[in-house]
Amino acid sequence: MLEAFKWDERYELEIDTVDAQHRHLVDMLNALVEVVTGQRQASDDEVAVLLDGLESYAQEHFADEEALMARWGCDAAHVAAHTRQHEIFAEQIRVARREYLAAGRPRDILEVLANFITTWLSFHILGSDREMAGQIARIRAGRPAERRSMPEHEREGGATRILVEAIGRLYELMAQRNLALAAARDELAELNASLEQRVAARTAELQSALAEVDRTRQQLLQSEKMSAIGQLAAGVAHEINNPVGFVSSNLGSLGLYVGKLLDLLGRYDEKLEALGPPAAFREELRRLKVEADFDFLRSDIGDLLRESAEGLDRVKKIVQDMKTFSHADQLEWQDTDLHEIIESTLTVVWHELKYKAEVVRQFGTLPRVRCLPAQVSQVLMNILVNAAQAIDRAPGRIVLSTRAVGAAVELEVADSGKGMPPEVIGHIFEPFFTTKPVGQGTGLGMSISYEIVKRHGGQITVDSRPGEGSRFTVRLPLDPPAS
Ligand SMILES: Nc1ncnc2c1ncn2[C@@H]1O[C@H](COP(=O)(O)OP(=O)(O)OP(=O)(O)O)[C@@H](O)[C@H]1O
Ligand SMILES: [Mg+2]
Repeated sequence: MLEAFKWDERYELEIDTVDAQHRHLVDMLNALVEVVTGQRQASDDEVAVLLDGLESYAQEHFADEEALMARWGCDAAHVAAHTRQHEIFAEQIRVARREYLAAGRPRDILEVLANFITTWLSFHILGSDREMAGQIARIRAGRPAERRSMPEHEREGGATRILVEAIGRLYELMAQRNLALAAARDELAELNASLEQRVAARTAELQSALAEVDRTRQQLLQSEKMSAIGQLAAGVAHEINNPVGFVSSNLGSLGLYVGKLLDLLGRYDEKLEALGPPAAFREELRRLKVEADFDFLRSDIGDLLRESAEGLDRVKKIVQDMKTFSHADQLEWQDTDLHEIIESTLTVVWHELKYKAEVVRQFGTLPRVRCLPAQVSQVLMNILVNAAQAIDRAPGRIVLSTRAVGAAVELEVADSGKGMPPEVIGHIFEPFFTTKPVGQGTGLGMSISYEIVKRHGGQITVDSRPGEGSRFTVRLPLDPPAS
């Protein structure tokens, strides 16, 4: 257990200034001991101030002692050893304070220090300081400074002096060992820190490599999926194309033939009228015509044929769009009309949109843009499907607008859906980020879109607030560097 430094007459050197300074030093040391032994609460700041005070006061006192020894011309060997002990004292306080502050302030560092100083001080005063006082007294009395001729030597007892000196050297050794230990500890801490840094850097590298592998795998999966859909679409389009071709050509002939037949019937009527048939025959003919609803047939046949032709045109358009879409695996850069891509994509996802939202087109005049059309279509499809899924109250609204901006085109898709909070916006371009229930979203749509737009040298940005819908903007340079 650490105890306060008790002053007694053995410590008096009979040099007034030095004795007063020793007392003060001991007071300061005892204040530290009080804190260490828990008799007094002290904040870390106060402990630091205490250590600072102790150190600077000791230095001041040591400087005085060293000046005194120089003034009286003490023995050079003694001055060197004495000064060295002073340095050790100051160094011990510095090291302990640094460790106390660095090591999350455990009190035991202070306890070791206080123990060290307490014992050091007693032996220092009894040893070196007494020797100094003795030398000064001898010099004052006109005798040589060396110990050999001092009368106190006998009075003090050789054994005590040898012991005191041995302990003084022991403390010097201890101090050196402490310093070496502290230095080793610092080095170890540094090594540790750099090791941790290296491990962290390696881990980060691994993680990013892993993420890259994952992204590539997802892209492969997605492009496989797209190419499967593309093949399916191409097959269906091909199959539908044949019947649509002959139905369309037959419908053309049918229209021609029906026109001719109706014409022929009209001529019959005219000729019959000119011949003046009997009233009964004329009545019979009129009745038959009414029965067959002839006037209605004549006017409706035209409408039916026209509507059928329109229907067929729509089927042809769908087939054409499916063909455009089925070029998904064809990674070819083409100068494309963005509006064509938008239209064909809208046809493909129409069944997802039609019950959810009204689709409004606000198209500007656009130059052709060099891109991978199937991929741009995929981006738009992902955005449109998300928009439809975000609209939970029909009728919603999806506004598609386009504009030319410098050497780029911009496509904006604004929906009236439920919008997103900032913490969702921050993640939507990350693979596998989804807020949708398991099985409904894979969280890949936006990350794939992001990669595609990046490959085009463009940008995709989002602006959204909860309850206020979302607005995705895709900007594509007219002439991307990658092409
Ligand atoms: N228009 C939007 N309105 C509101 N939230 C959106 C919108 N678009 C994307 N999000 C949010 O971003 C998340 C990620 O979108 P992303 O398209 O990448 O994945 P997903 O739609 O969940 O799944 P996947 O597209 O793979 O089927 C969505 O889960 C959703 O929370
Ligand atoms: Mg999605």
